[in-house]
Amino acid sequence: MPALQQRPGDLALLCCFALLLPLLSHGADIPLGSTLSPRNSASWSSPNNTFSLSFTPSSTSPSLFVAAITYAGGVPVWSAGAGAAVDSGGSLRLSSSGDLELINGSGVVLWSSMTGGQGVTAATVEESGNLVLKNSKTTLWQSFDHPTDTVVMSQKFTSRMNLTTGPYVFSVDKSSGNLTLRWTSENTAVTYFNKGYNTSFTGHMTLSSPTLTIQTNGLVLLTDRRLTSSPVVVAYSSNYGESGDMLRFLRLDSDGNLRAYSAARGGDAASEQWSAVADQCQVFGYCGDMGVCSYNGTSPVCGCPSQNFQLSNPSNPRDGCRRKVDLENCPGNTTMLQLDNTQFLTYPPEVAAEQFFVGITACRLNCLAAGSCVASTALSDGSGLCWLKVSNFVSAYRSPALPSTSFVKVCFPGLPNPPPSL
Ligand SMILES: *[C@@H]1O[C@H](CO)[C@@H](O)[C@H](O)[C@H]1NC(C)=O
Ligand SMILES: *[C@@H]1O[C@H](CO)[C@@H](O)[C@H](O)[C@H]1NC(C)=O
Ligand SMILES: *[C@@H]1O[C@H](CO)[C@@H](O)[C@H](O)[C@H]1NC(C)=O
Ligand SMILES: *[C@@H]1O[C@H](CO)[C@@H](O)[C@H](O)[C@H]1NC(C)=O
Ligand SMILES: *[C@@H]1O[C@H](CO)[C@@H](O)[C@H](O)[C@H]1NC(C)=O
Ligand SMILES: *[C@@H]1O[C@H](CO)[C@@H](O)[C@H](O)[C@H]1NC(C)=O
Ligand SMILES: *[C@@H]1O[C@H](CO)[C@@H](O)[C@H](O)[C@H]1NC(C)=O
Repeated sequence: MPALQQRPGDLALLCCFALLLPLLSHGADIPLGSTLSPRNSASWSSPNNTFSLSFTPSSTSPSLFVAAITYAGGVPVWSAGAGAAVDSGGSLRLSSSGDLELINGSGVVLWSSMTGGQGVTAATVEESGNLVLKNSKTTLWQSFDHPTDTVVMSQKFTSRMNLTTGPYVFSVDKSSGNLTLRWTSENTAVTYFNKGYNTSFTGHMTLSSPTLTIQTNGLVLLTDRRLTSSPVVVAYSSNYGESGDMLRFLRLDSDGNLRAYSAARGGDAASEQWSAVADQCQVFGYCGDMGVCSYNGTSPVCGCPSQNFQLSNPSNPRDGCRRKVDLENCPGNTTMLQLDNTQFLTYPPEVAAEQFFVGITACRLNCLAAGSCVASTALSDGSGLCWLKVSNFVSAYRSPALPSTSFVKVCFPGLPNPPPSL
């Protein structure tokens, strides 16, 4: 009798293993033909469940999903197709030919590792967070070589790679090792951050393979084959030297800043330990086209230059501003509205084409007279310089600490903002 009574239990056990095995692969090799989808809420995990690859709801729309590798607790560190989102009918498939493919509900392949027919026999999520496609002998593709916006400990970020978020791109310059941040659009790119962390080293040497890493102790380092002595210290995390069961990582955030973070295992919050651009309002495009960045206490806020403008998207001030009356609708009846303590951001090499040595009155009048000029800035910092903005995307910064006076071209009459109450 006892033997018979055990049977239903055995069956239940069998049934559940059969269900669980294809869904939850703890560190085991993931065989060809395996599929993840938002519907089956399955995941491919590293041996100790430190990282797992699964579909998570997209940050832009709750009905869409991205295939992401997340650290235990929820910090995402990589996503297939740089965050390409699929609907609930989508999938991530390791095909029988060894290609890893992100497919949306309509069957369109949105992204692929391009490894079909190269002999891939299995995939693995490693304890480091690296997703590896391999055969019995070697690694044929790894996510560490194709970062999206994040670099984790033991990942090597080289000058051949980019981190990308929206219009922003982070890279390490191949010859100088400078860290660079760029804002990009269809036909323009603005480098708003370009910094060497050891000028005696970056100034006098051409590097061969500069590589950025974040160490388990929180140091952000730049190493290079030509740098025989010691690596360049880019930054110490604020909690440098602190240890524990945590993840440290670098991320290009959607606000265009590169930051170092740490996150405790199991916790969903990462805490900031360093940021490359100390002054967030210096990030080009942070407040969108024609947006003005300023600080409310320590928080950057976005507004419009004057009441001649309105927010392009009232629910997101970062989307910039547009004129209530377009300049082409008031030919011959434009005026330059004065904006105190304000700069229109201008970085090399744009600076060379847009700067002139003229005083504040000419800085205003020259822009008014030039049909293509939309705004100007008299630096008033002793340099005697005036920037005439002819670009079709301009980004402004207002701070009581800025000596500059700017002018923005609007249809008559100019309608200043009420004085800031900060
Ligand atoms: C998994 O965790 C155990 C216990 O903490 C540890 O001994 C082992 O080395 C870990 N395995 C890996 C691959 O990190
Ligand atoms: C699948 O992707 C294609 C191409 O991006 C797109 O046209 C289509 O609408 C998508 N279908 C679904 C269901 O998301
Ligand atoms: C990195 O970005 C640059 C310019 O934005 C581009 O030319 C290059 O192809 C990108 N590299 C990779 C690996 O995506
Ligand atoms: C690297 O950054 C330094 C400033 O830190 C700058 O003077 C230098 O021109 C930059 N080098 C390149 C190649 O952009
Ligand atoms: C800068 O680099 C030079 C050359 O490698 C090295 O001798 C020097 O110690 C470094 N300085 C700092 C502050 O890291
Ligand atoms: C500035 O911050 C205060 C306190 O957080 C808030 O009440 C106020 O609305 C903010 N002002 C703007 C312009 O964002
Ligand atoms: C300029 O525009 C204003 C407001 O629309 C109007 O009152 C004024 O007459 C115009 N001036 C000229 C010279 O067109």
